[in-house]
Amino acid sequence: MPIPVILDCDPGTDDALAIFLALASPELSVLAITVAGGNAGLDHTLANALALIALAGSSVPVHAGADRPLLGCFTSEPRVHGETGLGGVVLPAGGPPAPGIATDVIRRILREAAEPVTLIGIGPATNLALALTTEPALAAKVQQIVLMSGAWAEGNITPAAEFNAISDPEALAILLACGRPVVFATLELTAQALVTPACIAAWRGLGSGRCLRAACDIQATVPASRRLGGTGAPLHDPCAVAWLIRPELFTFRRCSVRMDLGPGPSRGRTLIDRWDRTGEPHNAVVLETLDAPGFFDLLGQRLAQLP
Ligand code: BDR
Ligand code: CA
Repeated sequence: MPIPVILDCDPGTDDALAIFLALASPELSVLAITVAGGNAGLDHTLANALALIALAGSSVPVHAGADRPLLGCFTSEPRVHGETGLGGVVLPAGGPPAPGIATDVIRRILREAAEPVTLIGIGPATNLALALTTEPALAAKVQQIVLMSGAWAEGNITPAAEFNAISDPEALAILLACGRPVVFATLELTAQALVTPACIAAWRGLGSGRCLRAACDIQATVPASRRLGGTGAPLHDPCAVAWLIRPELFTFRRCSVRMDLGPGPSRGRTLIDRWDRTGEPHNAVVLETLDAPGFFDLLGQRLAQLP
């Protein structure tokens, strides 16, 4: 039986590949895609999500969500994703968004679900947190929450914080307190999924479909990461999706995670207690190692299966 999932995202170059991976994977049943502002403003991320599912020939409903965090100001990440979110790659426009706003739709799906639903969050956590904080009993209908978020050491936006985590730290704190397991694909994990020009060239050889081509064109716009030595760009978001499809590609550890919500320079840090120093109850699963060749094989195969 495929795992029922809601995919909450902010496409986003790496979100685009995560969406394709989810849509191409029979292990998952994508019930809805919900969109927040993040890598670019909501007008762009929503249009991108709609264009991506149209390119994939999918009829999964796409719903607009939050255009800003619960507190504080919205900030985007044009240095990595360009002003429009897909690195300047222009896709044919998709259809209109499905009716209903993200938080209402997430709650409705959970309420009506016959079996627990997995929430995948690969953008700021605002939509997911609003859904669970306005009807907390629905957490019982959540199987697990799988996030690309956080870091146990260094951030990529500030020395302390990763982009999705700092984009809405209060939302992430709500998810961590909801009582369901939260799985983290952190920056340390996604650093192991480093895409080089050679990797993109190899993907291009796998087929001639328009989604594979778009994925390669989009990924080719992402600058190499100085933080990771300048040889390639980490492919963050597909790691969270791959965990549900091929968990055997990962090692993990259960631990406690808390958010730094203070106003200082550590705001947005995920305090990941990998060595049980705090003695706090485990509320999270932290993915630690990735079989990168296995991950890239999976991704390449699945991208090549799309139209
Ligand atoms: C995360 O932030 C965004 O820029 C990416 O899409 C990913 O979700 C990485 O820090
Ligand atoms: Ca993202």
